[in-house]
Amino acid sequence: MRIIVVGGAGTIGRRLVPALRSNGHDVVVAGRTSGSVHVDLTAHATIEAMYHEVGTVDSVVSIAAHGALDEFTTLTPDALYENMRAKFFGQVDLVLTGQHHCADRASFTLTSGIFADQAWPHVTGGGVISGALHSFALSAAIELPRGMRINVVSPTMIDDSVDTHGEHFPGLRPVPMDQLVDHYLRCVEGNDTGRVIRAYG
Ligand SMILES: NC(=O)c1ccc[n+]([C@@H]2O[C@H](COP(=O)([O-])OP(=O)(O)OC[C@H]3O[C@@H](n4cnc5c(N)ncnc54)[C@H](OP(=O)(O)O)[C@@H]3O)[C@@H](O)[C@H]2O)c1
Repeated sequence: MRIIVVGGAGTIGRRLVPALRSNGHDVVVAGRTSGSVHVDLTAHATIEAMYHEVGTVDSVVSIAAHGALDEFTTLTPDALYENMRAKFFGQVDLVLTGQHHCADRASFTLTSGIFADQAWPHVTGGGVISGALHSFALSAAIELPRGMRINVVSPTMIDDSVDTHGEHFPGLRPVPMDQLVDHYLRCVEGNDTGRVIRAYG
């Protein structure tokens, strides 16, 4: 399969991309400055340009852009919207735009996160982004044209990220990276659609 991995140079991408390649797939890595194709999920024109540059693909995987931490008592609607731009609206744009460019029966695999389902301090934005992505995928799964599929992988903190993120999420049990990579591979290579894969360790 020909696959675009947006965020393929990141923490998850560095493990997923080699796994996809070793399964025989032709993988194009995209990012704002990393990868061989440049795209910014906050800029619709760059998403259009990416699909034109790469040509028809069979699968789009998005593992890019985080929800920022926030402070509820000073949070504003504008700040919440800004927080949602890349990870929510950008991933939605990858699908809404991609449906016109991808091959028949192409799949989209998006990334959300555990805070859709679990309250935690300072992640109102992250929780809203992830919950909204889950709802988006339900609708998209029954409306995408030409047999296209969509799934969302919702990770908890990953074991590879404990050193960098662990201080913000004490007590959150991490998910092993190998398990997480298997979830993405199944979304790309399997037949599922409309699923939210909760990789909560
Ligand atoms: N790591 C964890 O423990 C964890 C847990 C739960 C959920 N997640 C979610 O999993 C996803 C990936 O996490 P990660 O830890 O692998 O991230 P990461 O290491 O920060 O890598 C992010 C990747 O996305 C690209 N990127 C960032 N912003 C972008 C944008 N606006 N447009 C296009 N590309 C962009 C970056 O490349 P450029 O800088 O070149 O753009 C980079 O390659 C995120 O949505 C994150 O919230 C991660």
